Amino acid sequence: MDRNRIAPQDEAVLELAIRCAKGAGEIQRDRYETDISIRTKSAHIDLVTEVDHACEELIVAAIEKDRPEDAILAEEGGGQERADSDWRWVVDPLDGTTNYAHGFPRFCVSIGVEFRGKTQVGVVYDPLLDELFYSVKGSGAWLGERKLKVSSTSVFNQALIATGFAYDVHKSPSDNIERFARVLKSARGLRRDGSAALDLCYVAAGRLDAYWELKLHAWDVSAGSLIVQEAGGTVTNCTGGPAPLTGEELVSSNGLLHETLISLVQDQ
Ligand code: IPD
Ligand code: CA
Ligand code: CA
Repeated sequence: MDRNRIAPQDEAVLELAIRCAKGAGEIQRDRYETDISIRTKSAHIDLVTEVDHACEELIVAAIEKDRPEDAILAEEGGGQERADSDWRWVVDPLDGTTNYAHGFPRFCVSIGVEFRGKTQVGVVYDPLLDELFYSVKGSGAWLGERKLKVSSTSVFNQALIATGFAYDVHKSPSDNIERFARVLKSARGLRRDGSAALDLCYVAAGRLDAYWELKLHAWDVSAGSLIVQEAGGTVTNCTGGPAPLTGEELVSSNGLLHETLISLVQDQ
């Protein structure tokens, strides 16, 4: 990324977000496949580990030290929301906790930063592959030094797509399963890898052609949505309208497949 093209205030935020993501990623790498404590949250399949908390503590402490005026929304409850702040950090300290707890090597740190209610900076770090995805609004999306571009797949039966399922899948009738079946029968392949933030970055990188999910949260989608859009992709809700920053509905694609994906994932 050409740092000269970025406003100094954005650059400072990007640098801090990268430092936080790498610091948390180091914790994830160090404690991966060790004997960590694991608890459940909203359901027996919704896990939280000591590593989620340790990563969040590191990130929140670094933001509060450097930028005490900023608001923070962090998944495990650290940080402070401040209604009067221009900047808000939206933090998923460990996206892919189930994978992490099982030693399945697909998880990351995700940090989105909003300026006056719009995402301005996004950073996603995969510590095992040492892959740093990042973007500043208007400056493209990057994987390290490589500028990202979404795929050019335009035929749905040649597309590799990903999705995910919410932690209430065992009890809620709104479970994404019919949508899953429709897409499965129309696409080349369909994945459920367990990290929403990485799924979005993979759409940006052209490794996936599209990704959708329901009932996500702001911290799952904040950074990744910006990264997809800055890589030339499209992010909407299930009817093609603006995707809520809060993550309840998210459909992302290279743009070329968007209409078809919407026709398959909207209510029927
Ligand atoms: C989860 C992951 C998963 C998605 C879930 C998310 P977490 O986040 O992103 O891929 O399907 O909906 O909640 O709990 O591992 O941070
Ligand atoms: Ca998450
Ligand atoms: Ca998480």
